[in-house]
Amino acid sequence: MAAPVRERTFKLIKTVVPSPLLAFASRILPKGVKRAVNQAVQSIGGPVEGLLLRRAEARVRESRPTVTRDALIADLEALALPSGGIVFVHSSLKALGYVEGGAAAVVDVLRTVIVERGGGTLAMPTFTGLGSMSETLRSGAVFCSRTSPSRVGAITELFRHEPGVRRSLHPTHSVAALGPRADWLVESHHRCVGAFSEGSPLARLLEADGHLLGLGTGLGTVTFYHVLEDLRPDFPFSVYTPDSPIEAICRDESGVEHRLRVMAHDPSVSRTRIDRPEGEWIRGYITRHFEAAGSLRWASVGAGSAWTIPARSMYVGLEALLARGITIYSTRREVEGKALGEAI
Ligand SMILES: CC(C)(COP(=O)(O)OP(=O)(O)OC[C@H]1O[C@@H](n2cnc3c(N)ncnc32)[C@H](O)[C@@H]1OP(=O)(O)O)[C@@H](O)C(=O)NCCC(=O)NCCS
Repeated sequence: MAAPVRERTFKLIKTVVPSPLLAFASRILPKGVKRAVNQAVQSIGGPVEGLLLRRAEARVRESRPTVTRDALIADLEALALPSGGIVFVHSSLKALGYVEGGAAAVVDVLRTVIVERGGGTLAMPTFTGLGSMSETLRSGAVFCSRTSPSRVGAITELFRHEPGVRRSLHPTHSVAALGPRADWLVESHHRCVGAFSEGSPLARLLEADGHLLGLGTGLGTVTFYHVLEDLRPDFPFSVYTPDSPIEAICRDESGVEHRLRVMAHDPSVSRTRIDRPEGEWIRGYITRHFEAAGSLRWASVGAGSAWTIPARSMYVGLEALLARGITIYSTRREVEGKALGEAI
């Protein structure tokens, strides 16, 4: 429990103290003083947290256009996602503008458009990792389906609490889903050694010809990329740590514990990955690749941008890149070196 409390305390302090001042204070204050400040913030707890969150929200309200629920509904309807399908959403609340009603309004809009009107299934990551995947697994933290918070955005954290939402059992990469295919999407995750292998929610998104939707996010944080690594036995290198699979315990909704063995991403391989700062070049390259193929569509949602792509098109596009030796880990030098090699 210590880590989440520390993390929350640090987030609270970061919200009120400007970063240069925080960096300066962190450098000059003795350890004991810093510990006392942390403890003070922790012990005042809830009311301070509430106050800071309201201040952060006020800052967003002052700096971004206001977006209403109705406007979001109209924008999402305009995306014309096929009815009855599964839609897997990556999101950033702030990037949509100042949303009246906050994350709850976005969840409500997604549920209305995708599940209630569209008859489809809405899914989101509710990943719980702190640090790298292997660090989380080695920490021995127990994943609890009911209580482990999602660390991939306010919208996802609210979504997992919605009535009827099912959550897969996975120590780092759980997925939440609502709608007719929610059970099917999440039911087998704890039996998958690879978080994205056959039977996992993201592999099933592909099987069901679902869609990916990015709300206010780019093409860096797209978990679906990893499906290729788990489904293609000929993927040219291992993305996992040599000591994988690592054992982990997950507690399901009824409190029953399950012992899992899970492949952990190797941080040394992930260093240049598309979602990392070092992956900026391949992020642009892959975005342009899907734009040129015509499968990636951009649109406005609220005061931000959104993209959609059929999971099948993304998978086929990644396979085409793989055939040319290009992956989400490739660097500019590797790709340009290859092009030069082909020309010679
Ligand atoms: C990391 C990430 C979630 C951060 O996005 P974000 O918009 O800053 O954070 P959240 O979605 O959690 O929303 C909280 C923010 O919304 C702000 N907010 C609060 N009320 C709001 C409102 N009514 N309207 C808009 N923003 C509001 C909060 O103040 C907070 O911003 P702050 O941290 O600057 O104070 C996003 O960039 C991202 O990567 N999303 C994809 C994550 C993912 O799917 N990962 C899995 C694959 S790796």
